[in-house]
Amino acid sequence: MEQEEVHQRIQQLRDELHHHNHQYYILNNPLISDFEFDRLMAELIGLEAAHPELNDPNSPSVRVGSDLSLEFKTVSHKYPMLSLGNTYSEGELRDFVNRVEKAVGHEVVFVCELKYDGTAISLTYEKGKLISAVTRGDGVSGDDVTANVKTIKSIPLQLQGNYPPSFEVRGEIFMPRQGFERLNASREEAGEAPFANPRNAAAGSLKLQNSSVVAKRPLECYLYQIMGAQLPSDSHFENLKFAATWGLRISPHSRLCTSFDEVIAFVQAWDSSRHTLPFDIDGIVIKTDSLQLRDELGFTAKTPRWAISYKFKAEAALTRLLSVDFQVGRTGAVTPVANLSPVQLAGTTVKRASLHNADIIKSLDLHLNDMVSVEKGGEIIPKITSVDLSQRMPDSEAVEFIANCPECGTALLRIEGEAAHYCPNSMSCPPQIKGRIEHFIGRKAMDIDGLGGETINLLYENGLVRNIADLYRLRPSQLSSLERLGDKSAANIVVGIEKSKEVPFARVLFALGIRFVGETVAKKLASALKSIDAIINASPDDLLAIDEIGEKIASSILDYFSKPENIQLIQQLRDFGLKFEEESSESSNLSQNLSGLSFVVSGVFSRSRDEIKALIEAHGGKNAGSISAKTSFVVAGDNMGPAKFEKAQKLGLKIISEDDLLTMIDKSGN
Ligand code: IVH
Repeated sequence: MEQEEVHQRIQQLRDELHHHNHQYYILNNPLISDFEFDRLMAELIGLEAAHPELNDPNSPSVRVGSDLSLEFKTVSHKYPMLSLGNTYSEGELRDFVNRVEKAVGHEVVFVCELKYDGTAISLTYEKGKLISAVTRGDGVSGDDVTANVKTIKSIPLQLQGNYPPSFEVRGEIFMPRQGFERLNASREEAGEAPFANPRNAAAGSLKLQNSSVVAKRPLECYLYQIMGAQLPSDSHFENLKFAATWGLRISPHSRLCTSFDEVIAFVQAWDSSRHTLPFDIDGIVIKTDSLQLRDELGFTAKTPRWAISYKFKAEAALTRLLSVDFQVGRTGAVTPVANLSPVQLAGTTVKRASLHNADIIKSLDLHLNDMVSVEKGGEIIPKITSVDLSQRMPDSEAVEFIANCPECGTALLRIEGEAAHYCPNSMSCPPQIKGRIEHFIGRKAMDIDGLGGETINLLYENGLVRNIADLYRLRPSQLSSLERLGDKSAANIVVGIEKSKEVPFARVLFALGIRFVGETVAKKLASALKSIDAIINASPDDLLAIDEIGEKIASSILDYFSKPENIQLIQQLRDFGLKFEEESSESSNLSQNLSGLSFVVSGVFSRSRDEIKALIEAHGGKNAGSISAKTSFVVAGDNMGPAKFEKAQKLGLKIISEDDLLTMIDKSGN
């Protein structure tokens, strides 16, 4: 689109979305579906991201981008959650120490702590019980994410020992690197976008609507600040030691420092050894130890005068860009990857860096043979952050994003508003075919023993497999005649393939590799609709009524089953004896008292939400993920999101309590 056209389209989208917001929130008279609204909003956000020069602080999209989400209750902080002044320079750190000592007129004891790279949280304990957990939000008020935080095992729900009756404790929720890598691997397996870094993964996890999903995220927490009227000591360091005796998780890496030399020694030691920690830190926080001194020093408008954070420089190195490869994934997405002249960076040798997409190549104005700066920040994969133009060779060629698939030659597509290019030739593009088969045989899918990426490649190169159904056509003689495969491995593979026919329906569904249908969604789909035929024939509303399935997943499922080649593939797999129906669980049903009714469960209850949902299913009811006109009852617990509540009221749905639900189950049963 030309700049003028983009401008007009953005303006048109903003006007339309403002109008629909007014219709929905003020006039109570929505004119378009939520789906259509989200689609317009997604288009606007995509265009705005690509054209920051057309920014408007009052665009309808700013509501979407705020840290405060509509779904959580907003609560004011008793004490504002301020941020810290930053410095990257040792000289400024020395100035800070001098300034503090000059202001109080004597030498000061400082505490040096790690600066955890996660998301801040404020916990309130009363009478030893965790009663609320609130995000930083805008510093004045934040989101009440108590139900989600309660799933984090390192945060005690009940304290022990001699704790004050009421206090707040603040800290950082973060995701250790190993857990982050595992989470991203499983997201990619499910065709979902990976998180860019552990910080985003932690912050994103806290904002999930379903706390049972949060519970599976590998989140941890270190607490670093206690506030309240009856703290045991004037020393911050001592208070944290007391807090540890109450069962709170306090950083073991903090140190009392009585001189600038000790402070700088701590900073330098961690700058060089931070990579030995299992989680990311992005600097060191230096605070005065005495709380009374903190009161004396006070605050500037935004930051305390008694603390500062020293930020580590992202490690960077200069190296030469040798070439750019374009890799095609299982879903057809094409990722540009830079090949670099090998260089040492943050303890490892870097030879490749992701370039993500065409926009990034363009914004860097990358040319072949450029000297580029590579950085390893919070991200695991190094990235190119800039080009040293002074070293550019006069006749170097600009890097162009390819127009055709490097593997099969098909013209690439770019969906409007999306950054990625796709190869649409899903049926015969080799890496897409091989990627789908590798996904199909994976441990969490069909778990076929003896088969791996290399064998799949071999089978493909020899023309023995072109799709997942071909695996079931393989004969032992074909396998053992392959180079590098003996009789024994061939026999193993055949047994593995045969055994896979026993894999339950939910895993078969996951194994098909439908975009956005990961393990959890496959389970929900299978248990809600019971058979592949029901899924093939499901309407958008049927799909949307299922827990965890939103517009994006629903449209991907509909798209997959609208293709005749996929239906044909499923028919072939069915003929080979794979399971395409949920094993009957009628026997585990306690009653059919809720039969024909659909429920949305929201909020916090005396038992877990999963238990409530299991109860509904055991009595013949259906669980739906989102409220719609088809919902029979909304089971509301504490802290149900205000937006959901409003929507339920607007649709005139019956809102019932946990006790009402139990009565419904009992009454008709006895
Ligand atoms: S003390 C008045 N200590 O850094 C500020 N913050 O910019 C009190 N952080 O929002 C914060 N590790 O999320 C403090 N040991 C630590 C920290 C830490 C990480 C984060 C925190 C805060 C941000 C400050």
